[in-house]
Amino acid sequence: MHQHRDRCGGRPVTAADDERFERLWEVADQIPGWLTRAQGRLLYDESRRLPVGATMLEIGSHQGRSTVVLGGVARTLDATVIAMDPFVDGRLFGGTPTKDKFLAHLEQAGVTEVVRHVEDYSTQARPGWTEDLDFLYIDGKHDFWTLSDDLRWRSFLPPGATILVHDAYSSIGVTLGILARVLFASDLTYVSREGSMALFRTTRPRLADRWRIVREVPWWLRNVGIKLLLRFRLRPIARLVGHDSPYDPY
Ligand SMILES: C[S@@+](CC[C@H](N)C(=O)[O-])C[C@H]1O[C@@H](n2cnc3c(N)ncnc32)[C@H](O)[C@@H]1O
Repeated sequence: MHQHRDRCGGRPVTAADDERFERLWEVADQIPGWLTRAQGRLLYDESRRLPVGATMLEIGSHQGRSTVVLGGVARTLDATVIAMDPFVDGRLFGGTPTKDKFLAHLEQAGVTEVVRHVEDYSTQARPGWTEDLDFLYIDGKHDFWTLSDDLRWRSFLPPGATILVHDAYSSIGVTLGILARVLFASDLTYVSREGSMALFRTTRPRLADRWRIVREVPWWLRNVGIKLLLRFRLRPIARLVGHDSPYDPY
């Protein structure tokens, strides 16, 4: 176990953090991606509580929108962000040109020194992994099997650690993974969500915590319905259920 786990952490978020986050978000918001401002703030607040010297793992970095937020916090904590992304090819994620943009964005944001890029699939890197972690952000491949595997990275976290999952109760694969792997788990507690970013802790859940997951199912079904409406170009109907955007609900 690393020494930093024994150090005093858990600093409360203060008013000065509002200003720091604003400055950080100004930079992050220039970077294309799916993270909303409120979700960026949740990433900020949760990582800000980490002890000095902490290690964060981000699965799925794309162009670095979320990495820059975590990197900005890491700079103030003498912490490290492990940004794991194989930069998969294809229309959505863009392969090597995306990697070049990612590296340039880290440089522009001044966080290159605190971000360690691991160019690998999370599912391939995990079996041989040995390093302790303090914080986990999951935003990689959104299918059931990958999300299930990504949740197994929690074995490297201490009790009470934070796990954030993007596209929870929005993506079908991610949500089925949560229902199958978290609902009945004895060491993972669902706390809350900011849009589709769900917050979990590595603690023993109570019945009420499990019930909170079940209560998100209607919101998930609504989101799947909205995605279908958008695919079929039925945006006016999506507006009727409160989704006034051409983009999927995040
Ligand atoms: C939704 S994007 C991440 C967005 C990023 N967090 C942001 O804030 O903009 C998903 C990323 O996951 C990567 N990816 C896909 N499969 C992966 C895997 N098994 N492990 C790690 N990353 C993966 C893709 O290359 C892509 O860059």
